[in-house]
Amino acid sequence: MTSPSPDAMRAALPRRLDKLLADARLGSRRVIEAALAAGRVTLNGLPARLPWTLVFPEEDEVRVDGARVEAAAPAWYLMLHKPCGVLTTLSDPSGRPTVAELLPAEARPVVGPVGRLDNMTSGLLLVTDDGDLHFLLTHPRHHVAKRYRLTLQVPAPLASADPRLEQLRSGLLLGDGLGPTRPARVEVGAAGPPGAGGVAQEVRLTITEGRNRQVRRMARAVGLHLTALHREAVGGLELGGLAEGALRALTPGEVRDLYAASGGEDLPQRRALAALAARASDPRTDPSEAARLRRWLMSRGGAY
Ligand code: URA
Repeated sequence: MTSPSPDAMRAALPRRLDKLLADARLGSRRVIEAALAAGRVTLNGLPARLPWTLVFPEEDEVRVDGARVEAAAPAWYLMLHKPCGVLTTLSDPSGRPTVAELLPAEARPVVGPVGRLDNMTSGLLLVTDDGDLHFLLTHPRHHVAKRYRLTLQVPAPLASADPRLEQLRSGLLLGDGLGPTRPARVEVGAAGPPGAGGVAQEVRLTITEGRNRQVRRMARAVGLHLTALHREAVGGLELGGLAEGALRALTPGEVRDLYAASGGEDLPQRRALAALAARASDPRTDPSEAARLRRWLMSRGGAY
C-alpha cells in the first residue's frame, strides 16, 4: 500500500471549523465568520456557528449553503518575480508599491511573503499561507540555500580566484555580532564590454542564511561595487523564465522539495499533533470532544 501524500495527511488533520473553511478557500476570515454567524454552515447536518468547533475531516461532513466542503491542506504556494521598486510588505503607510498589488485578491487576506527582498532587489519571492513552511524556510537553523545574481561594476573582469571573491566564499564579519558569514558558493559569470566606468561583471552567490541585507553588506565588506541584485533560486526552486511582476503556483512536487530542502517534511504533522494532544488534555475542552480527539490520536499513533 502506498502511503498518503503529505498534502492528503495534512488535509485529514482535525482542525477548527473556521480554519478548515479557510483552507478550502471559502473566503477571507470575515466572509467565513459571516457565513458561520448566518447559519449557512452545517456540520453533520446541524447548523454550526462556533468557529472553534473541532472538525475531523475523515469522519465529519461540512456543508456551506448545502454544498459539501472538501478538506484541503493550506492552499497558497506562490512564486512571485518581484520587480525592483516594489516593497516586500502587504501594505505601506506612505502608499509606495507593494507586493500585495501583484497577488490575487482572494490570496491577499491570508498569505504572507517568505523572508524579504530589499526594495531594489528583484527576483524570486515565495508567498504562502502555510505557516509551517514559512517557519522552516526562514529559521536561521535550517540553512536553506538562496542563489543571487550580482551585477558588479569593476575596473576589469574578475578572475574566479580574486581574493575578494575568496573572502565571500570563506566567510567574513559583517559587524553585526553574529560571527562570520557561513561559507558561500561564488561563481563568476559574464562580463560586459569595457566602458569608461570599467565593466559590468555578473557573479552568482549562493548563501545559506538570511541576515538583513546580507548580500549588499557582504559585497560592501570586500570592497565590491554592487549595481544590481536579483534572486534566482530558493532551495531547489528556480525563478526560471517567469516574467517580472508575474506569479505562478508551485507544483505539489516543488512544495515537497522545499520542505525537504529545509529538513522539515514532518513538521506540519508534528506541530499539529502536538497541538491536538494539548487540546485533548486541556480540562477546558468539552469532554466528548476530548474523548473523540484521544481516540483519533490513538488510532493514528505512528501513522503521522
Ligand atoms: N541580500 C540583500 O542584501 N538584499 C536582498 O534583498 C536579499 C539578500
